Amino acid sequence: MPRIGRVRATHPAAITISNLSKRYGNESGVLAMDNVNLDITAGEFVCVVGASGCGKSTLLRILAGFEDATGGTLHVADEPVTGPSPERGVVFQDYGLFPWLTVQENVAYGPKQARLPAGQVAERVNKFVAAVGLERFANRYPSELSGGMQQRVAIARVLANSPALMLMDEPFGALDALTRSSLQTELKRIHQESGTTIVFVTHSIEEAVFLADRVVVMAGGASHGMPGHIAEIVPVPLGKQRSVTDPEFNEIKKHISQLVHKELVGAAAVE
Ligand SMILES: Nc1ncnc2c1ncn2[C@@H]1O[C@H](COP(=O)(O)OP(=O)(O)O)[C@@H](O)[C@H]1O
Ligand SMILES: [Mg+2]
Repeated sequence: MPRIGRVRATHPAAITISNLSKRYGNESGVLAMDNVNLDITAGEFVCVVGASGCGKSTLLRILAGFEDATGGTLHVADEPVTGPSPERGVVFQDYGLFPWLTVQENVAYGPKQARLPAGQVAERVNKFVAAVGLERFANRYPSELSGGMQQRVAIARVLANSPALMLMDEPFGALDALTRSSLQTELKRIHQESGTTIVFVTHSIEEAVFLADRVVVMAGGASHGMPGHIAEIVPVPLGKQRSVTDPEFNEIKKHISQLVHKELVGAAAVE
């Protein structure tokens, strides 16, 4: 049952992941992920890091409902996930905008699908186009925008559905460093204002420590001879204002780097 008559999620997502596993293909197929256990609190910002192939995207696609798990259970807001939903918005690295729609039409798409009255659609479009700083570009087409601006549209388009959960798979991976850094700051602000739960996959440990309340470090993968799994969950007890030059910030970053590195080295050296 879609809950759509609100701009802020009234039932923010709490996520319960128990013994989740995923095997692609048939019984002899690759076990991409195994024994994943993770509880996420409503409103939390969780980042997932780990080497290529350890199952980060697999986990995110299962959370999105694009992919079924082959074992274990997954509940979002106490309900089992059985398929995609506008309540769980997804942002990928390649934006995924509709090229034939303008910025505001892209953002209006979800609310229109949900059959909101025109006034409310317009209200949401204005609010979220403004939230990502694109008022002056509302009538442009995606091809007329930079990568950073397109990613802003993708974020606004998801936010316009008032999702209880936002799932992001390396969303800033294709952006230059400066754009990436300003989008990180914007996303943090949007997260604080909206109360939306966010699960964010990234290659960048620094990005994870900057954004997250907790960092889930994954390890394994086919090339390591074991299924992807959670190696450690690292809390980030830093305040809202974070600086990459802060010694505490760097301690956490170092700990996660060592963990990722250890997992890589450990996998290469068969004991
Ligand atoms: N659709 C698929 N079919 C078969 N194997 C897949 C598929 N998607 C991913 N895999 C495999 O599952 C493992 C985890 O992949 P993925 O979740 O993409 O890892 P990550 O995002 O951490 O790089 C890899 O070994 C990958 O080759
Ligand atoms: Mg991936």
